[in-house]
Amino acid sequence: MYAFDEFDERLVRERVAQFASQVERRLSGALTEDEFKPLRLKNGLYLQLHAYMLRIAIPYGALNGRKLRMLAHIADVYDRGYGHFTTRQNLQFNWPKLKDVPAILSLLADVEMHCIQTSGNCIRNVTSDHFAGVAHDEIEDPRPIAELLRQWSSLHPEFDWLGRKFKIAVTGAAQDRAVLKAHDVGVRIVRDPASQKIGYCILAGGGLGRTPMEGKVLRDFLPREKLLSYLEAVLRVFNLEGRRDNKYKARIKILVHELGIDAFRARVEEEFAAIDSPRHDVDPREFARIAAHFAPPAHESLPAVSRRLEEAVAKDEALSRFVEHNLTRHKQRGYAALTISLKPIGLPPGDLTSRQMRAIADLAEKYSFDEARVAHTQNIVLPHVRLDDVADIFAILRAEGLGEANAGLITDIISCPGLDYCALATARSIPVAQALALHFADPAKQKEIGPLSIKISGCINACGHHHIGNIGILGLEKKDAESYQITIGGDPGDSYALGELLGPGLPAEMVPEAVDRIVAVYLAQRQSGETFIETYRRLGLAPFKSAFKEIADVVA
Ligand code: HEM
Ligand code: SF4
Repeated sequence: MYAFDEFDERLVRERVAQFASQVERRLSGALTEDEFKPLRLKNGLYLQLHAYMLRIAIPYGALNGRKLRMLAHIADVYDRGYGHFTTRQNLQFNWPKLKDVPAILSLLADVEMHCIQTSGNCIRNVTSDHFAGVAHDEIEDPRPIAELLRQWSSLHPEFDWLGRKFKIAVTGAAQDRAVLKAHDVGVRIVRDPASQKIGYCILAGGGLGRTPMEGKVLRDFLPREKLLSYLEAVLRVFNLEGRRDNKYKARIKILVHELGIDAFRARVEEEFAAIDSPRHDVDPREFARIAAHFAPPAHESLPAVSRRLEEAVAKDEALSRFVEHNLTRHKQRGYAALTISLKPIGLPPGDLTSRQMRAIADLAEKYSFDEARVAHTQNIVLPHVRLDDVADIFAILRAEGLGEANAGLITDIISCPGLDYCALATARSIPVAQALALHFADPAKQKEIGPLSIKISGCINACGHHHIGNIGILGLEKKDAESYQITIGGDPGDSYALGELLGPGLPAEMVPEAVDRIVAVYLAQRQSGETFIETYRRLGLAPFKSAFKEIADVVA
């Protein structure tokens, strides 16, 4: 894991001191809330429905025991004993008191964490594949460039006040697990077929929100040393030419759309030509210094199969389900990555109590080379676990209420905080997720349905990724009541697609029944081995729409 150097340390400590003085001035009345707002938004502090909310960056999702224990401590002392993991590999505390925020930031700094650039119109937390360094399909571990980008984008003076927020995701694998095409910029590590050299494919102009768009290829091969100067050019064009007259049109996706990708690319190349010089190239020594922090841990040489695990699985049905759904093959023989589902049936998706944080800290330290990762799916991954240890880990997870064997299944629902916390929400999303999970709780039914993603947002801002859920649910307010629109066919990965609307909105209590009918069409019409999304692509919207219409007609 990356360790702060003297510059990181100083930058974070200085920011803590600066913000402490700003909070003091707010508390004394020297600053009004309006004056304070841009200052707090530089430090991840929002004002929500009931309280302030503090968003903590977890760059590319990387956690360890110390960090998790500190988060647990903060949750107990300064919040209500839990935290909420988001779809952008951040953690949110929902109940901090303003007077305590400087103390919280200082404690976070002790474990090399901070809230800088987790809100406001700047380059946000850089996200990545939660199976980085583990996955079979990886060309190269994406974490060194994610870290390079974190350093480059932290307090970058030119991009400190962009027209709007800017989100970058990075992957090094053949399969996109980082939702690249929904980001302002996506960086994909690729190998040039001719030279076999490693470089980057750069995407731009993706985003969700009220105007969802798919990121488009800007450069299909960028040499490794040009990464920062090229991104500098992309950001500069956005900063200079992106709209600032209307905040809904201020994201890069609108600029790319309005100019067209070819004209946008030409502008970027022009800027790049002006910047490009060996002086601006990534310094290979610095890159190597960073990359050394992500060297693979000291894996043991183990057999590919664990007799111990096989025997335990044969005796324990719950463990067998856990292994089937939550265990991912590791490129190192005898190891696996385990997904800890933060979607226990009936509880708010993405929440973790302080006790559970400590339990995961123990597990990471004892069994996973002190590493844990947050996934954009609001789950946690233990990336380097010996197959021999899986049964012991599962027993602990189960005792802590973390043994749900539903990774990638219909109850592994992504949900934003919605109207339970969020000041922008038009409807609740957590209770809808809870009701759906309870409705589909039966493990045999979940297994029968197979991989299917449900994603829920409590307003058009789409923080819960509803556009790209196989089934997407958007909560709106209609005639003073909550109303839920359902889309199907969304896909966050390589076959990126935005879902299509099935029909009019439904009241919350009818959502499980509606999803049931959609699933029934799939189960009745799927061909052997087809997943939900594959059946949808073969059949199109029509059969799902007519099944949905029956239920929508009841409401009308
Ligand atoms: C509770 C306070 C939050 C506020 C005020 C907020 C605000 C917003 C807004 C205004 C947008 C739309 C941006 C645009 O269209 O230009 C947005 C998008 C987004 N937010 Fe949030 N959000 C909050 C919480 C969250 C949470 C909890 C998550 C993760 C679960 C999240 C992840 C995202 C993502 C993934 C997007 C869409 C990607 C994009 O186009 O930027 N946000 N948020
Ligand atoms: S989608 Fe809307 S309700 Fe949900 S967190 Fe984002 S802004 Fe809030």
